[in-house]
Amino acid sequence: MSQQVRLLIICLGNICRSPMVEGALRHRLRQAGLQDQVVVDSAGTGGWHVGQAPDPRAIAIAAANGVDISSFSGRQLKSDDFRQFDWLLCADSSNLREVARRSVAHARARYGLFLPWALGNGEHTEIPDPYTGGRADFRRVWEMADQAALAAVRRRAWTAPIEA
Ligand code: 4NP
Repeated sequence: MSQQVRLLIICLGNICRSPMVEGALRHRLRQAGLQDQVVVDSAGTGGWHVGQAPDPRAIAIAAANGVDISSFSGRQLKSDDFRQFDWLLCADSSNLREVARRSVAHARARYGLFLPWALGNGEHTEIPDPYTGGRADFRRVWEMADQAALAAVRRRAWTAPIEA
């Protein structure tokens, strides 16, 4: 059996986008029987929502799609994440700049944008922040997250070189 791969999904607050991506990825990995091979966690570059559950709108859209993210708890990106994870996958370019800025010596993790990594299309696509938006924005983010999660699992994105 191959070694376990560890993915950390990153956004700003860790209460909207990254928990939705984490939930979608875990769900799609479970469906494919890969949940023991690929471990998924999420974190925020900011610390405002540490210890909090995801935004109720994120919980609701995930639940409407059969995915329970209500027990997830917000946490902030830490130095050790650069050593513990294989991939740090960011929702947008601002998150990615922050990750690059905080990188440590002897980092194990590679980092990039989640959507191009998952879809393998090399396009510079971002997941827009829905926090100040409405339900439709959360629905759009869920659809993006889940479509990309499905593609990532189908193409085993963690085995491919990053394209972004
Ligand atoms: P997220 O959304 O990065 O997708 O979790 C946000 C959540 C909270 C804040 C910003 C973005 N905030 O400023 O508190």
